[in-house]
Amino acid sequence: MKPRVAVLCSGRGSNMTALITAARAPDYPAEIALVISDKPAAPALGFAAAEGIAAQAVPAAAFGRDRAAHERAIDAVFVAHGIEVVCLAGYMRILTPYLVGRWAGRMLNIHPSLLPKYPGLDTHARALAAGEAEHGCTVHLVTAVLDDGPILGQASVPVLPGDDEPTLAARVLAQEHILFPATLAAFVRQMHLPESTPTP
Ligand code: GRF
Repeated sequence: MKPRVAVLCSGRGSNMTALITAARAPDYPAEIALVISDKPAAPALGFAAAEGIAAQAVPAAAFGRDRAAHERAIDAVFVAHGIEVVCLAGYMRILTPYLVGRWAGRMLNIHPSLLPKYPGLDTHARALAAGEAEHGCTVHLVTAVLDDGPILGQASVPVLPGDDEPTLAARVLAQEHILFPATLAAFVRQMHLPESTPTP
C-alpha cells in the first residue's frame, strides 16, 4: 500500500493541485489521501473534493488563541485518515512545537526561496531588492525553526532583466509544481528502504 499523505494549505492550492495531479500516475509512490485547510473558503478544498479526496476545513477561529488545540484537532483528522506524511503547501500559520514534534521527520514544507536565503515572507521582492542573479524554491523537513530544517530538494531559476515580483514569482512557482511532487516521491521511496542491509 502506498503511504498516505495529507496536504495542509490555506488558499490558492496550486502546489496541492500539483501533488494531486502527480499522484494520479499509477507509479507515483504516495497517495494524497487528505487535504486540510484552516480556511473554509480555500479553493484548494473544492479541487480536492472534486478529485474524490477527503477535504476538510479545520478553522482556527473555533480555538481562539489556543493554537495547539487547533493543531490537536488537525492531528486527530490526520490520525483518523491513517496519514503517514504531511506536506505543508502554502499553509499560512506558524506551527507550534506540538504539531512539529508529532510529525518530526515526516512533515515537508515548500518555501519560495533558495533556503537558507530568505526565510519568511516576501521572498521574491527581497531577492529582487538584493540584486540576486538566481532565485528558486526549496522543499525541506519542518523543524521548530521557521523555514529551517534539512533541505530535501531545491530548484533554481534565473532572475532576468526587467523582472518584477509577479514575473519572478510565476517563474519560481512553475518550478515549485515540479519540485514538490518529485521531492515527495523521493522522500517516501527512501522511507521504505530497509534500515540496514544484512551482511552475508
Ligand atoms: C507557494 O509559493 C509556496 O512556496 C508558499 O506559499 C505559496 C503557496 O501557493 N509556501 P499555493 O497555495 O500552493 O498556490
